[in-house]
Amino acid sequence: MPDTTTPFPQGFLWGGATAANQIEGAYAEGGKGLSIQDVLPGGGIAPRTDAPTPDNLKLEAIDFYHRYAADIDLFAEMGFSVFRISIAWSRIFPNGDDAEPNEEGLAFYDRVFDECARHGIEPLVTLSHYETPLHLTEAYDGWVSRDLIGFYERFARTVFERYRDKVTYWLTFNEINSILHLPLMSGGIGTPKAELSPSALFQAAHHELVASALATKVAHEVNPDARVGCMVIAAPIYPLTPDPVDVVAAMEADHANLMFSDVHVRGAYPGYALRYFREHGIVLDITDADREILRHTVDFVSFSYYMSVCETGDPARKTAGEGNIMGGVPNPTLPASEWGWQIDPRGLRVILNQFWDRWQKPLFIVENGLGARDQLVEVDGVRTVIDDYRIAYLNDHLVQVREAISDGVQVMGYTSWGPIDLVSASTAQMSKRYGFIYVDRNDDGTGTLERYRKKSFGWYADVIRTNGASLR
Ligand code: BG6
Repeated sequence: MPDTTTPFPQGFLWGGATAANQIEGAYAEGGKGLSIQDVLPGGGIAPRTDAPTPDNLKLEAIDFYHRYAADIDLFAEMGFSVFRISIAWSRIFPNGDDAEPNEEGLAFYDRVFDECARHGIEPLVTLSHYETPLHLTEAYDGWVSRDLIGFYERFARTVFERYRDKVTYWLTFNEINSILHLPLMSGGIGTPKAELSPSALFQAAHHELVASALATKVAHEVNPDARVGCMVIAAPIYPLTPDPVDVVAAMEADHANLMFSDVHVRGAYPGYALRYFREHGIVLDITDADREILRHTVDFVSFSYYMSVCETGDPARKTAGEGNIMGGVPNPTLPASEWGWQIDPRGLRVILNQFWDRWQKPLFIVENGLGARDQLVEVDGVRTVIDDYRIAYLNDHLVQVREAISDGVQVMGYTSWGPIDLVSASTAQMSKRYGFIYVDRNDDGTGTLERYRKKSFGWYADVIRTNGASLR
């Protein structure tokens, strides 16, 4: 019997999650430098261009840079107690390696955090969300270079000090484990993936892990009350069949993901990772100083959850899933979104239990949601979207969060992805919408940018007001 009585804990953080490059626009205003997103018009799955092109929807995005106050008002109307955003590194250090920060960029986020504070909303801030300054890609090949650790530390220290009294919750890298699959978008690495050696790729991952631990250390020095989390893509990997060969294949695929949070939580590389490096000829430059820094472990583990996948040890059965950037084989029992992402609410309970059992660290679901095409309609003279499909998706996932809490898992909060429609990371479309708030902008760049409340807006407000008791 599902447990429908156990409430979400008092103080559970409810809200939504975004990223600077997908909402802000104003890509060349306020002294901002270019980031890799400004030259990725097709999102993470298309090649970059040499310079920003007008077909890149992220250049204007949803104009949050100018409309942040009205947007935060709408979040407050839904009752948000937390709002996840990222700070665009290239707004603060336009080239990434500058000696001094850009005051105009810092002042922008002051205004955003002040607006959150006015509504009693806690900011949850990602330092690096797929938006490495372009100069760091061109001059250093992104995180392949050890130099980026120092540049990132300077950026992190600058914002920790500046926002010491405004921000308590920090995330170091968005979906850090995605670097193995998306080296450019995730790691700012300009060398094409096909030409990148496994050693260079894992060295880049190592640099990010050291930078993340260093940022955690600095955050605690600047503000002992700061709470720092790692952020990973979480996807349960089920064996495709009960054949032990598939079970082991699933376990090994899982290791590739878990390695990142294992290092963040345990402060050292796990044995299975060292074995993988040894057996694949991966030679890494890991210094004693690196090992010392890695001991600065995170306060909580955060993750995105959209789908589960299967794995098999049988090469003949290994087929790629549509829209699945992390690899894996489609699950024959599950439905999928219009973009091929398989929908598995129970997988969220599985992940919450797995992570809690493994680390006994508080968990924060910082992304979850359904990308779908919406139809703007008029009801009683008011423009809206009747998005029952989105309500069903979110309800079913939140019911599984409640189940996990009943299992004894400590969950800090839930921020659904894209509470306001934004530009998709993987496809750079507007039409892949996640929001409770519709933004009038189309894939061809037309639209007024007006905001409209969808049916899910009222539904989510009820969930928050009742602290989850309204879930079905
Ligand atoms: C996560 C990213 O992978 O998924 C977000 O952290 C992204 O940036 C979200 O937007 C949804 O993916 P997409 O491709 O539908 O935008």
